[in-house]
Amino acid sequence: MLFLAGLLPLIGSFLPLVSGLPTSPSATIRPPSQDPFYSAPDGYETTRPGTILRLRRAPGNLEALVGNASAAYNVVYRTTDSQYRPTWSVTTVFIPSRPRPGNTSALLSYQIAYDSYDVDASPSYAMYAAPPVDVSIALSQGWHVNVPDYEGPQAAFTAGVLSGHSTLDSIRSILSANTTTATFHIHASTSRTALWGYSGGALASEWATELQQKYAPELRLAGAALGGLTPNITNVMNTVTGTISAGLVPGSVLGLASQYPDAYAFLLRQLKPDGPHNRTSYLAAQHMTLPEALAFFAGQDMYDYFRHGRATFLAPVVQHTILRDGYMGTHGVPRMPIFAYKAIHDEVSPVADTDALVQQYCGRGATIRYERNRVGGHSAEAINGHARALQFLASVLNGLYSPSGCTIRDVTVNVTDSAL
Ligand SMILES: *[C@@H]1O[C@H](CO)[C@@H](O)[C@H](O)[C@H]1NC(C)=O
Ligand SMILES: *[C@@H]1O[C@H](CO)[C@@H](O)[C@H](O)[C@H]1NC(C)=O
Ligand SMILES: *[C@@H]1O[C@H](CO)[C@@H](O)[C@H](O)[C@H]1NC(C)=O
Ligand SMILES: *[C@@H]1O[C@H](CO)[C@@H](O)[C@H](O)[C@H]1NC(C)=O
Ligand SMILES: *[C@@H]1O[C@H](CO)[C@@H](O)[C@H](O)[C@H]1NC(C)=O
Ligand SMILES: *[C@@H]1O[C@H](CO)[C@@H](O)[C@H](O)[C@H]1NC(C)=O
Repeated sequence: MLFLAGLLPLIGSFLPLVSGLPTSPSATIRPPSQDPFYSAPDGYETTRPGTILRLRRAPGNLEALVGNASAAYNVVYRTTDSQYRPTWSVTTVFIPSRPRPGNTSALLSYQIAYDSYDVDASPSYAMYAAPPVDVSIALSQGWHVNVPDYEGPQAAFTAGVLSGHSTLDSIRSILSANTTTATFHIHASTSRTALWGYSGGALASEWATELQQKYAPELRLAGAALGGLTPNITNVMNTVTGTISAGLVPGSVLGLASQYPDAYAFLLRQLKPDGPHNRTSYLAAQHMTLPEALAFFAGQDMYDYFRHGRATFLAPVVQHTILRDGYMGTHGVPRMPIFAYKAIHDEVSPVADTDALVQQYCGRGATIRYERNRVGGHSAEAINGHARALQFLASVLNGLYSPSGCTIRDVTVNVTDSAL
């Protein structure tokens, strides 16, 4: 029973994305930490954000594993970290096997919830073991699909600014003129682009939408579907500690702090050296995928790892980090239509935080359809909201969506009878 419970958050994040049984990645596919492709050439810092730095056919047979794709490419592209310094990331681009005709190509940027402080959990590699069903579904619509490793080379899980920047720059790299027509067969000037993410994937997607006007004003984004939003990282930590989702915490704390060396060093010093909740165990999250971290930390008090418990996170050096990178709605207002879907009984991120974020945006001129589901919790909503998200995406990518300010309503959608 406990084992099954421990897997439920995993189902929320991954089940809709996984086709068939996960198998080990083929031995010929090297993990990011061991693949020299995952690096930037000398001097890349002076290139513009979104510049393609390396390009290859994705190794192995990824297009066949995923299905409905004629080709898959890996792109290394220039982006900007949370300190606004040059960095790079990798994305995977899928070409639909039956593309839409002529100049009507469409691009879905699909942010997977990989939720890990382990670079080898990056989607460009993890997709071999768990080909995402949603990517196949999108390809079957004739859409091109972009799947960025938005946490970047340090796997900075929950670093909002970096995640947003790297999502936006992955899109820029695909739409950059010279490559696109030649390699990706996408019509950059007429193609519509939309974003989709759930939970950790919605984190990256949401930060992209709020940073877009400032960081990538030239990008035209047709819309974004954001499910299971986690607007306030402090409240997520407070909510999941001691529960089956406690394993989200160490990857998040370390991933966020990886962008701020002072905060990282401080947190490391604050971890208890011994006892049942010690530094070694906490840091082991660096080599854990989400399912591994959930299993390892299930039910644990995640503040007990620190000498000063919760107070650790009130230290100015940590607060500085969280204020800059951990709270949505602090860097701008989305300028494209948003569909937000959220379970009222979400047990990972309180619905009140999403309510407040939506209210704030709506007061500042955003176009949002926000649906709060009376049924299910965080994991269930990924399934319950799935069809409505796809419907919204098809509508914005086909140019058929008529924006109408903000609409907020409670719905009863019961596709899965899972309570969580
Ligand atoms: C490809 O798309 C079709 C619908 O066009 C769908 O029936 C099929 O399952 C898809 N293939 C895969 C591998 O998902
Ligand atoms: C491609 O790049 C070349 C060289 O930079 C430039 O002359 C040309 O205009 C570009 N083509 C497009 C379609 O942007
Ligand atoms: C595609 O090209 C046709 C003919 O030039 C034009 O009428 C149409 O508006 C274009 N479609 C888009 C999405 O730009
Ligand atoms: C996030 O939650 C914390 C703890 O409840 C609260 O102190 C803080 O003001 C919240 N931040 C935002 C931006 O809502
Ligand atoms: C750290 O915690 C782990 C797991 O509880 C335990 O096996 C290990 O002995 C602990 N290490 C120290 C130094 O206490
Ligand atoms: C959802 O549907 C299941 C049957 O599929 C039912 O048992 C359950 O009570 C329903 N939940 C709600 C909240 O309607």
